[in-house]
Formats: sequence, structure tokens, C-alpha cells
Amino acid sequence: MTDPAAPIGVFDSGVGGLSVLRELRRLLPDEDFLYYADSAHCPYGGKSLVEIQARAAAITEELLAAACKLIVVACNTATIAAVEHLRANYPVPFVGMEPAVKPACALTRSGVVGVLATGAALGGEKFHRLVAQHAAGVRVITQPCPGLVECVEAGELDGPRVAELIGRYVKPLTRAGADVIVLGCTHYPFLRELVQNAAGPKVTLLDTGEAVARQTRRVLERDALLRAAGGSVGRLEWRTSADRGELRPVVERLTA
Ligand code: DGL
Repeated sequence: MTDPAAPIGVFDSGVGGLSVLRELRRLLPDEDFLYYADSAHCPYGGKSLVEIQARAAAITEELLAAACKLIVVACNTATIAAVEHLRANYPVPFVGMEPAVKPACALTRSGVVGVLATGAALGGEKFHRLVAQHAAGVRVITQPCPGLVECVEAGELDGPRVAELIGRYVKPLTRAGADVIVLGCTHYPFLRELVQNAAGPKVTLLDTGEAVARQTRRVLERDALLRAAGGSVGRLEWRTSADRGELRPVVERLTA
């Protein structure tokens, strides 16, 4: 029997999943969390399916060794590449994430939706299925964003260099008439303001952090794993495959 007092494991290729952790901690204040930033292997966006599956498995084993009761794959790329593989091989529930294509297609009035994500996520079979299922009658324009994840990993959340890069990725979407843009990578919510500036005030930005937190609560309830109210102060431990001292200021800034 898994102990409801055990922590929830959360992982990402780096610090991007902290945008999901923020929503998890807000919705589940009585839970403890163990966050793993795989920053030594970041970005996943340019890696093969097999490489991402191997990293996801190695991190899952570390989180299970720390007795995590449920694992949130706080990375669209790792979910698309590896969540089915993880579910088939490990005995805990996994909550994954996917770009918000479904709500975006329901929301658009112009009939054009833009998706910003990593190349690996946009090339995944699971992503193609998502578009095929939910985008009937809607034009979905995808845009890989090399360099953005690296900016967030380095704590570069503003300034002309990152703004210029974002402008370059967002303009083709708005020029094509997109009125909804999906932030399909967990690093991008930290750049939300710059994306909104580039897209203009009439464009709606969607990410799935909050929906993933709600899904996590549903799974905990379903499996009788929800921690009782007042059971903990909501401890957060974090680990990384990179240099902890170097990453610390970024983690502290993104969890503040
Ligand atoms: N944060 C990631 C995602 O949600 C992956 C970024 C990367 O490592 O390329 O897709």
C-alpha cells in the first residue's frame, strides 16, 4: 500500500516544469513535492524519442527510490515521447501533459490557432493524433522555438535578446490570423508577458499547468492517495542532474 503521506514527484528537462509545480502547490497545499530538473540533459527538444525515453525512465527510477506516490511529467516533450512507455513499465500513476490544442480549437473565432512548442513535441505521433482529434475545421500552425528553453534555463526572462527571439516565433502566427496561441512547452509560461507583447492584447495565450494540477488531484482522489488537510506544510525538495549551485538562483527565482 502506497502511503498518502509520500511526496509527489515532478520532473522536466529542466526548470520549465516549475511553472506546473506552481499550480500543483497552489491546488494541493497539503502535499510534499520532489522536483527533478534534468538540466544537464536539457533541452529535450532536439533529442530522439529513444533518448528522451531513457532519461524519463532514469528519472522515474530516482523518484521511485525516493518513494514518490505519483509522478507528474511536467514536460510536454517528455510526455509525448515517453508517458506511455512509463505507464507500461512502472507501478505508480503518471500524470502527463499535452499542448492545449483542444481548448484552443474550442476557443478560436478566427479559425486559426498557433502552437509554440519544441521540435520533438511537434514531431511526435501523440501530437499529430491530438490535432487530428480536436482541430476539425481549424487551421493549426505549429512553430518550434529553438533557443527559448535555453534562455529560461539561464534565468534570462526578459531583455532584448529573448524579446527578439519571441517576436520572430510569434509574428508568423499572428500574421496568419491566429487569435489563440498555445504555450506548448512548460518553460514558456515564464515568458508569457513577452509572448503577449509580441502577439498583441487581442490574442489569448493558453497553457495547461492548472489543468494538470486538477487532473493530479483527481488521480490522487481516485487512488485514495490524497494527503489529509493539515498533514504537511507542503515541503519542496528539488534535485538536478546539473550543477546544483549554478541552478539554485534560477530555481529560487522561479519558485518565489
Ligand atoms: N519543458 C519542456 C516541454 O514542456 C521541454 C523543453 C526542452 O527540453 O526542450 O516540452
